[in-house]
Amino acid sequence: MEFYLDTANIDEIAAARKLGLIDGVTTNPTLLSREGGDWQAQAKKICDLVDGPVSLEVVGTTAKEMVAEAEELVNFGSNVVVKIPMIEEGLVATKELTARGIKTNVTLVFSAMQALLAAKAGATYVSPFVGRLDAIGQNGMEVVSQIRTIFDNYGFRTNILVASVRHAGHVLDSAALGADVITVPYSVIKQLAAHPLTDKGLASFLADWKKLTG
Ligand code: E4P
Repeated sequence: MEFYLDTANIDEIAAARKLGLIDGVTTNPTLLSREGGDWQAQAKKICDLVDGPVSLEVVGTTAKEMVAEAEELVNFGSNVVVKIPMIEEGLVATKELTARGIKTNVTLVFSAMQALLAAKAGATYVSPFVGRLDAIGQNGMEVVSQIRTIFDNYGFRTNILVASVRHAGHVLDSAALGADVITVPYSVIKQLAAHPLTDKGLASFLADWKKLTG
């Protein structure tokens, strides 16, 4: 399973790169707006820094606007994946961009049926938002499981990119279900690396070593 970092923050990307854990980055308008400043310069910086796919999202709501924006976004770097919202016009845009050889990530996916439509339109990735589903009392991972079954049943090559990740359990379940990619906030990367027994064990090894060597 590939790990993407869900951020538009350069310091977080640099820190995760240092850990050698990052296969790509996903951004969205909210994440870029948090960074402030010139979003285009920020997006280009991210594309330069990351050895792997970088999702940049369109904000148009008609297929024509989305395709025009996508044509601009792909100039930011050879690793750009264009994020398209899962609306009917988004499906039209996805089909058109796929025909032009532009990679797409269909985002804001909340059901397996939406994922099926995105895959039929030729999406490179579909992004089910598990955390937001859990937050309204539904089961995000259940949707991921259904998408996996459907894609395997019919041999769709669209990658399942689990998004809106809130905790380490989402990562564990995604790996167990066979998701292709998970995009995680930096805080969740830190959760994955840490375990209280590791800290406790290390402290006791170091204390014993000190006793031995003075
Ligand atoms: C990633 O591609 C999504 O934009 C992101 O995971 C959304 O997550 P959120 O629910 O934390 O906004």
